Amino acid sequence: MARRKYVVGNWKMHGLAADLAEVRAIADGARAFPEVDVALCLPVILIERAVRAVPDFPIGAQDVHFAEKGAHTGNVSAAMLRDAGATLTIVGHSERRQDQRESDEEVRSKAEAGLAAGLSVILCVGESLDIREAGHAVETVQAQLDASLPRAETGVPARLAIAYEPIWAIGTGEVASPADISEMHSALRERLVAAYGDGGNEVRIQYGGSVNASNAAEIFAADNVDGALVGGASLTSEKFLPIVEAAARV
Ligand code: PGA
Repeated sequence: MARRKYVVGNWKMHGLAADLAEVRAIADGARAFPEVDVALCLPVILIERAVRAVPDFPIGAQDVHFAEKGAHTGNVSAAMLRDAGATLTIVGHSERRQDQRESDEEVRSKAEAGLAAGLSVILCVGESLDIREAGHAVETVQAQLDASLPRAETGVPARLAIAYEPIWAIGTGEVASPADISEMHSALRERLVAAYGDGGNEVRIQYGGSVNASNAAEIFAADNVDGALVGGASLTSEKFLPIVEAAARV
């Protein structure tokens, strides 16, 4: 099945009003590659301004709370993200699984809340270096996916994507080999099909972890890779657009 490539930037805790110029440059540049779905996940406080700056370009969040509303000081609901103009959100990024101690169960609730509110959701999974070196990466990440995937009863999976991000490759300059990425993505595809039947073939699986202009083409050419979730190299149009272009050329 042919799935459109999906390249998403995750700005993490970077970006002030002055950086909206980069958002504009990325949105403008991405128009040259209509065959690739491109989006930026920004700090929540920039979302509304970015949506105003680039109304035709998908802007997303990096997290969402699982509750519709209520006494959750400091959190943001899916309805609030939609209200601000966001069309997608990341959930379960390893930095949140670590820093905020988010469990698989919580990540599942967040993914379901995002989908229920009409957002697209990128659900992140990935193993630590210890687990990779011990030879347990595939079964560990499969189990993590099983435990954090939205349940099939809630609809799925048209607006769902998975990002496989080995923790040891995030922000380190180290990249998983194309063979390891393909192996993991096909193992995750099996779990998606087990969960959703044929619909599981429609869910895109991105790779994330030190993707940049020099390694993107090789990663996109690997089997079962439907795109990338990009951190550091998504902060400027100069670094990010060549990655989008690489996705267009596969
Ligand atoms: P990186 O981050 O591209 O800076 O390694 C990727 C991510 O955490 O999504």
